[in-house]
Amino acid sequence: MTGVTTAVCPGSFDPITLGHLDVVRRARALVDHVVVGVARNAGKTALLPADARVDLARRALDDAGLADVRVAVVPGLLVDYCAEIGATAVVKGLRGGADFDAELPMALMNRHLAGVETVFVVGDAALAHIASSLVKDIARHGGPVDDLVPPGVGDAVRRAFAEAREGDRR
Ligand code: PNS
Repeated sequence: MTGVTTAVCPGSFDPITLGHLDVVRRARALVDHVVVGVARNAGKTALLPADARVDLARRALDDAGLADVRVAVVPGLLVDYCAEIGATAVVKGLRGGADFDAELPMALMNRHLAGVETVFVVGDAALAHIASSLVKDIARHGGPVDDLVPPGVGDAVRRAFAEAREGDRR
């Protein structure tokens, strides 16, 4: 990847999982600077506010020995953020074919919009069953998620569901 010095690992990170950490670690091995970009997916309603997602990612990266990876909110278009920070590539993880099908249009669109290339890394097969959406679905029903996410994340998700339920009762 000659010439690539900064790459963004974008995502909703709602919440960050062990799968995300694995992908960030692999990205970090490829490029000089990695920025975890906490972005808005127009097709999803987030459980956690952006600042909470950033805080959880920050703590998880520090705990995982990835303190040199920056975490930031992507306020608008991903390609605009890449231009702003001088990132020339996006790194995304693939768990399987469904991920590729979802990622390909975005990769092509980001290249169309601004020439930003996407590099796909294959995540650890042992983590391929982990998805933020499943973590939330399990936690919503009181199931165990702590072995799917970095320390502290399960508590944050459970708290968010408890607060949402409390809000519904008012
Ligand atoms: O974790 P996700 O939800 O699969 O990540 C998707 C995400 C947030 C990276 C994507 O929706 C995104 O890039 N959002 C920022 C706004 C943007 O640039 N939209 C156009 C994408 S082609």
